[in-house]
Amino acid sequence: MKDQLKAIEIEALEKINKTEDIKKLQDIKVAYLGKKGSLTSVLRGMGKLSKEERPVVGELANAVRQQITASLEEKIEKLEQIALEKQLEQEAIDVTLPGRPIKLGGPHLLTKIMEEIEDLFIGMGFEVREGPEVETDYYNFEALNLPKNHPAREMQDTFFITKDLLMRTQTSPVQARTMEAYGGNRPVKMISPGKVYRRDTDDATHSHQFTQIEGLYVDKHVRMSDLKGVLDIFAKKMFGNDRDIRLRPSFFPFTEPSVEMDISCKICQGKGCSICKGSGWIEILGAGMVHPNVLSRAGYDPNIYSGFAFGMGPERIAMLKYGVKDIRQFYTNDIRFLKQYHNA
Ligand code: DAH
Repeated sequence: MKDQLKAIEIEALEKINKTEDIKKLQDIKVAYLGKKGSLTSVLRGMGKLSKEERPVVGELANAVRQQITASLEEKIEKLEQIALEKQLEQEAIDVTLPGRPIKLGGPHLLTKIMEEIEDLFIGMGFEVREGPEVETDYYNFEALNLPKNHPAREMQDTFFITKDLLMRTQTSPVQARTMEAYGGNRPVKMISPGKVYRRDTDDATHSHQFTQIEGLYVDKHVRMSDLKGVLDIFAKKMFGNDRDIRLRPSFFPFTEPSVEMDISCKICQGKGCSICKGSGWIEILGAGMVHPNVLSRAGYDPNIYSGFAFGMGPERIAMLKYGVKDIRQFYTNDIRFLKQYHNA
């Protein structure tokens, strides 16, 4: 029996020595020391031993059990240590490596242009006001001297929601809303940037949704020369001091007289080229003196107050300023396009 125990010990220690896997070591433990293990089954035979032999064999058996247990623990600890070291090595961070650059975004080109225009007019004492994109027929048309069935409504193909509710086709309704809010007895000096909607088919120069910036100045004694002065400052600040402006007669139902403002073409210095279609001038915006009907509807007495208004498209301004050829570029969000203007 002593030999048997010795043999078990040698065999077990050898196996432990050879095993490099923690799970297999657990199996070895069960195979030798477990309830059905080989050491246990040898000990079952102790009953057959003599009185004198029993304590001797018992002691030896205990020593064998302790030896196997100790080697198992030692080996498991060693393997765990190795595994830990390996993991630490794999997870090591080299703090001396250069970092990956963080990609910074930037404002959309259109946002930048709009903010630039806003800043410019804020600097001239205009306040910024907003109005709803879902607008009533009244503010989008009627308050602006465009009664129902007026042919000039055709100029703006409209997304109607109900008979009286629509997606605003212009930012001009904010003129009427602001004058009403001011109560008819105070000067108004505001701009209003925002989205507008038209039932247009999208192409290089049309988009069913685009932006406008509206301007309105109402006070006693506002004259057309005030309009021209403000627009001249705007054009020079946006496009450069070497630009001239001209006002051409035009028609808008809410202004009388109405004008369109052109700036001199920078490419050909006014001589005529493909950008300005040979005229030497590029159309920028619509403007005029606020129609007496618009003033009186909003509560301002046209015999006391007068005003000028203008409306422009930031897309058009950005296209001219940066040579963007297709209006859809502003809305398809191709990062390669947008990225070019982050530092513009
Ligand atoms: N609302 C006009 C449009 O969308 C633009 C415009 C023209 C606005 C003349 C004005 C203005 O305030 O005076 O075509």
